[in-house]
Amino acid sequence: MGRFGDIVILTGAGISAESGLGTFRDRDGLWTKYDLNEVATPEGFARNPDLVHEFYNARRANCAAAAPNAAHEALARLEAGYQGKVLIVTQNVDDLHERAGSRHVWHMHGQLNRALCAACGHRWDAPDRMRPRDPCPACGTTATRPDVVWFGEMPYLMEAIHQRLQTAGLFVAIGTSGNVYPAADFVRNAAACGAETLEINLEPSAVISDFDTARHGKATDIVPAWVGEILKTT
Ligand code: APR
Repeated sequence: MGRFGDIVILTGAGISAESGLGTFRDRDGLWTKYDLNEVATPEGFARNPDLVHEFYNARRANCAAAAPNAAHEALARLEAGYQGKVLIVTQNVDDLHERAGSRHVWHMHGQLNRALCAACGHRWDAPDRMRPRDPCPACGTTATRPDVVWFGEMPYLMEAIHQRLQTAGLFVAIGTSGNVYPAADFVRNAAACGAETLEINLEPSAVISDFDTARHGKATDIVPAWVGEILKTT
């Protein structure tokens, strides 16, 4: 068993920033360019499904053109080399963790490369470009949407995530501003069950006071160094 027991890592947009994918709340973040009520809520989708599909089609194209960075790759090395479980719970909808080689990745906000039928709940691999008129391959209804969790919807895998937070020996948040719940509460959930907690972020997050320790700087600098320390001590 590794020195810290099982590790749970929460990642946010900041870990993919140096791969060229936008964050949400930084100066030039996505929510400074788009109204999230129009492109990231069920109401916005009902009002204008074409706009929402265009928003996610553009993000899907950016993701396909991006590559995992040194931080994603370091986490894959951690999972492969650590003598204990390493779980990544990501708020990100990109697939850069998987493309870096991480195998245990839970997407609590869904995934850009998956599609969902709003009528029957069927899920399938999303095509590069989705359109509202695309029929569901299972029920034929034209109610297809990106399989992404929007504001006001319940994130995925919450029960399973809470179980893993309760048994984690170490909880690390990487590249998240701590502004969106329930993810922003995970540090408290883990600490309440005895986990050590570490924040890795460009700058202190909104929940920095909940963490035992913090390392602030770019993920591609901090994460590989941190992983190297952990693997040396296991
Ligand atoms: N290295 C490390 N951290 C970085 C870097 C970097 N190179 N660049 C930016 N950051 C940090 C920022 O300082 C910020 O605190 O990443 C964080 C990104 O915060 P947000 O843009 O709020 O993204 P996130 O926390 O993932 O948002 C959570 O909100 O809009 C919803 O569903 C969306 O999953 C998203 C959720």
